[in-house]
Amino acid sequence: MQPIKDHFGRVLKDLRISVIDQCNFRCTYCMPKEIFGKDHVFLSEKELLSFDEIIRLANIFADLGVEKIRITGGEPLMRRDLDKLIAELAKIPGINDIALTTNGVFLPKMSKKLKAAGLKRVNLSLDAIEDEVFKEINDKGVGTRSVLKGIEAAKEAGLQVKINMVVKKGMNESQILPMARYFKGKDIILRYIEFMDVGNHNGWDFNNVISKKDIIQMVDSEMPIEPAEENYYGEVASRYRYKDGEGEIGVISSVTDSFCGSCTRIRLSADGKLYTCLFASDGFDIREKMRNELTDAELEEVLTSLWGRRKDRYSEERSEEKRWNRKKIEMSYIGG
Ligand code: GTP
Ligand code: 5AD
Ligand code: SF4
Ligand code: SF4
Repeated sequence: MQPIKDHFGRVLKDLRISVIDQCNFRCTYCMPKEIFGKDHVFLSEKELLSFDEIIRLANIFADLGVEKIRITGGEPLMRRDLDKLIAELAKIPGINDIALTTNGVFLPKMSKKLKAAGLKRVNLSLDAIEDEVFKEINDKGVGTRSVLKGIEAAKEAGLQVKINMVVKKGMNESQILPMARYFKGKDIILRYIEFMDVGNHNGWDFNNVISKKDIIQMVDSEMPIEPAEENYYGEVASRYRYKDGEGEIGVISSVTDSFCGSCTRIRLSADGKLYTCLFASDGFDIREKMRNELTDAELEEVLTSLWGRRKDRYSEERSEEKRWNRKKIEMSYIGG
């Protein structure tokens, strides 16, 4: 079967599946307490796609050329029996990479089960190495120890580990160097992420972005680095290796250096909406189509047509004024 292509000829390769919209953290830049407080209504059990529905869709996507699946949330490990879903996804022919993006707190309990189910790697979010800074960011008073224990458990279970650090001016720039020092030489890739204007509530302002260029300069001045080639087509992070051979770092620069041209990703929300861009306003309700008993062949046609119409390239268009006021989906709903 020929790979399916969007309006600009971009092939569909990755499926990011959000399995739950809840999280045990309230990171100030993602789920601020004022918005995601006690009264916030999360998706109900009935609204969530069942594991059977997710597996069915993943099979169809694999038929259409998807090779890589990433499980996200909110916090995906809050979805009960996630290892059982992963075990089924791992059986799908054509899927050669299954990964998870998590805050890591539940990894001590879950790592072995996840690895046994077929998970290969985890990307853990950790925005600071100093307790006080981290507690303030997650706004739940959770110290770095909980996450570091998660990292250890994942490594022990044989999972590959990367660390995601969102960098925001006024929040954690003091942690850029301490984080690099901490992870250097530990066989763990630290990736700095430029603070993005995802969602409507994260108080984004261009002035809060610390650019890839600045981050690289800072790290390089103390721990010399040089660019490295990408690991796979369309990798979101630019890689840099330490000149002394002690590993590498990455920088994800969707704000100052967009990568829409090679974007091969589609996103599935926990309630069954498909988004062809992280910054999309509206999703396509595939749950409704499935629950209305479309056949697999009909669903395949619907998905091919949805991807074929895709013209998204938000990061490239960000600076255009018309984009500024558009309504966007929340990060915790779509999982990054
Ligand atoms: P790898 O498979 O390990 O390369 O993971 P990844 O970087 O694709 O996924 P992860 O969930 O770790 O995301 C890291 C950061 O990249 C998050 O801030 C995501 O929101 C961001 N990101 C991932 N894909 C895209 C994308 O298509 N567009 C934009 N703008 N950001 C993305
Ligand atoms: N900009 C960049 N990255 C973000 N993340 C959450 N919100 C933002 C944002 N506004 C990160 C999380 C996680 C990944 C899925 O996305 O910290 O590592
Ligand atoms: Fe923080 Fe990730 Fe939870 Fe958002 S989803 S509040 S970034 S841990
Ligand atoms: Fe893909 Fe949209 Fe991100 Fe561009 S902004 S890389 S189109 S998800």
